[in-house]
Amino acid sequence: MKIIILGGLGNLGSQLAQTLERDHELLVFDRADFDVLDDSALLNVIQNARPEILINCVAYNAVDNCEDKKLYETALALNCELPARLAQLALQFNFLLIHYSTDYVFSGLETKKEFSENDTPNPLNKYGESKFLGEQEILKQAPSGLKYYLIRTSKLFGPQGSSPQAKPSFFDIMFKLSQDKKELTVVNEELSCFTYTPDLAAATARLISSKAVYGIYHLVNEGAVTWYDGALELFQLLKQKVTVRPIRGEDLTRPARRPKFSVLQNNKVKKLRPYQEALREYLNNL
Ligand SMILES: NC(=O)c1ccc[n+]([C@@H]2O[C@H](COP(=O)([O-])OP(=O)(O)OC[C@H]3O[C@@H](n4cnc5c(N)ncnc54)[C@H](OP(=O)(O)O)[C@@H]3O)[C@@H](O)[C@H]2O)c1
Repeated sequence: MKIIILGGLGNLGSQLAQTLERDHELLVFDRADFDVLDDSALLNVIQNARPEILINCVAYNAVDNCEDKKLYETALALNCELPARLAQLALQFNFLLIHYSTDYVFSGLETKKEFSENDTPNPLNKYGESKFLGEQEILKQAPSGLKYYLIRTSKLFGPQGSSPQAKPSFFDIMFKLSQDKKELTVVNEELSCFTYTPDLAAATARLISSKAVYGIYHLVNEGAVTWYDGALELFQLLKQKVTVRPIRGEDLTRPARRPKFSVLQNNKVKKLRPYQEALREYLNNL
């Protein structure tokens, strides 16, 4: 099938491009090609390509920056207005829209620790709010016949994208820190699931190939853990002696609040493997 990937040099986008190129005709775009907020450029690309599928990996992901009023405007443009426009274009040009959202749409404040695809979001921070607004824009168009997969995921890790601003993942940061320090402090809260980008890309490809029903999907590796648990697992796999001390989220000065619990339950499709297996593979490939 003919597939456009937006944000194709980012962390997830680059893995999608690698996975999907085997079976599909891909058109991969990133910031250097055109600004997705330039509507005439976006329209021009879609009109010329006439894709059957468009996968949107563009987002404003700087969680703490979103608390800043000015930067929140950028977050809204990319996380809400862009998916709204893509949904309109999907209806107009009859393509399947695949869009990613986050566990941060859930507050994780109540007694509820795990969230199904049907649970109602209630974001705690401005990043989560912007992503939730984007979800609503897509869902609003569903009754008009929109073909869509709205995929929530969490704590991405994997090979770093080649975009100039691609961010290192948590495990990359921990590994780098451990080169200089023998003791690390890591938040022992924010229980959720790590997700290996090649596994998420493969699971997305399965949604396409199986012609899964349109709707919301939760795609994460299995095994809910805190950041602290993840760091312990990393150094155990690396057989590296590092003292990891647990701290609370409040011990860090961060503008945005994080959900204490945001475990995404995948109730709809084949579960992804445990994150420990994926992390072992990632480390072996480094
Ligand atoms: N990272 C996580 O842990 C996480 C967790 C849950 C959900 N998600 C969701 O997963 C999806 C993919 O995230 P990711 O971490 O792979 O993102 P990423 O690495 O930041 O990739 C986003 C890509 O979009 C490009 N882009 C940004 N603004 C653009 C614009 N105006 N025009 C054209 N291209 C633009 C970026 O280019 P530049 O690098 O030049 O800005 C980058 O290459 C997002 O929807 C995100 O919300 C991520």
